[in-house]
Amino acid sequence: MEQKIREYMKANHIGGFFVANLQNVRYISNYTSDDAYLLITEKENYFLTDPRYAEQAALECPKYKIINWREKGKTVAETIKLLIEELNIKSFCFEGDFVSYNMYAQLRNAKAEAMPVSGVIEGFRSIKSEMEIECLRAACQIADRAFERIIKDIKVGITEKELASKLSHYMVIEGADTKPYGNILISGKRTSLLHGIPSSKSIEYGDFVLMDYGCGYKGYLSDMTRTVVVGKATPEQKKVYSLEMKMSEDSKKAMVPGASAKDVYEASIKAIKDTEYYQYHYNGVGHGIGLFVHETPFLSPRSDDVLASGNVVTIEPGIYIPDWGGVRIEDQMLITDNGNEHLTNAVRELIEL
Ligand code: GLY
Ligand code: MN
Ligand code: MN
Repeated sequence: MEQKIREYMKANHIGGFFVANLQNVRYISNYTSDDAYLLITEKENYFLTDPRYAEQAALECPKYKIINWREKGKTVAETIKLLIEELNIKSFCFEGDFVSYNMYAQLRNAKAEAMPVSGVIEGFRSIKSEMEIECLRAACQIADRAFERIIKDIKVGITEKELASKLSHYMVIEGADTKPYGNILISGKRTSLLHGIPSSKSIEYGDFVLMDYGCGYKGYLSDMTRTVVVGKATPEQKKVYSLEMKMSEDSKKAMVPGASAKDVYEASIKAIKDTEYYQYHYNGVGHGIGLFVHETPFLSPRSDDVLASGNVVTIEPGIYIPDWGGVRIEDQMLITDNGNEHLTNAVRELIEL
């Protein structure tokens, strides 16, 4: 991976690449913990961390010179500046989306040109390797198994918070990383809240229960949503659910290499375009996922991204009716040479509990 960065540096006549985003650090160096920054130069790989992580960094990243930034500069940015000057580097780039103003204020004092770049490593990350696909597949399978467990616990009287914590627990015992994820588990009218937070509300008969959740496996993430009904679904619940299923299926048919984000969005709204439900959809219908939950490519009418074989993306159209409720089905898909493959496979048909 360092080689890819060097090729980018060479093509752009840059002598150094400062990596400040922790997920990008992990992607490039295989380091799995915190407080870490990289400086890639033409000849050397530098890894900046503090003494809490130095031993782990040395074990995980044998190709790097480990630097305790606290010994060199007052801050990470000052340490980078000093290194750049010691190495006589004339120009370097930094991740404009992840360097704070205060860091930049120190970097720009270096006797070298400091240039912001955006999306370079994220672009590499959007095409997954075999190893990454296997980790993503495992994260999705864990979430699928947790679904089979949690639906047995969804009963009148249990609260959203209790269910959310059981769901997290099931994923960890099924093999997930322990890092918390912030699952959405909401019920009844609250299911129209796109990013609702689990509350102390108890599950009632007739509620939709919407679970938007996932986990990490070796740092790689799953993200899926299922919506179930407690008891018998009403005719309107059935109608909204079947429209949502159609939106999901139509979107998946459009998810092929070369399809634009706009193509996928247009496919996702085909089933509701001429119905009263059109006003209740949200137009961000999916996103790439890997070490970070929302990453390139993004699927929405505002995005210029185009799908390619090796992308792993979610597809999550939804219908959200204020003061009534919402339905979302979200799956995680691998884009293949010929189309796509589901990585999440939990039951999608409407479950009445
Ligand atoms: N609904 C947010 C997400 O799944 O990304
Ligand atoms: Mn989700
Ligand atoms: Mn998602």
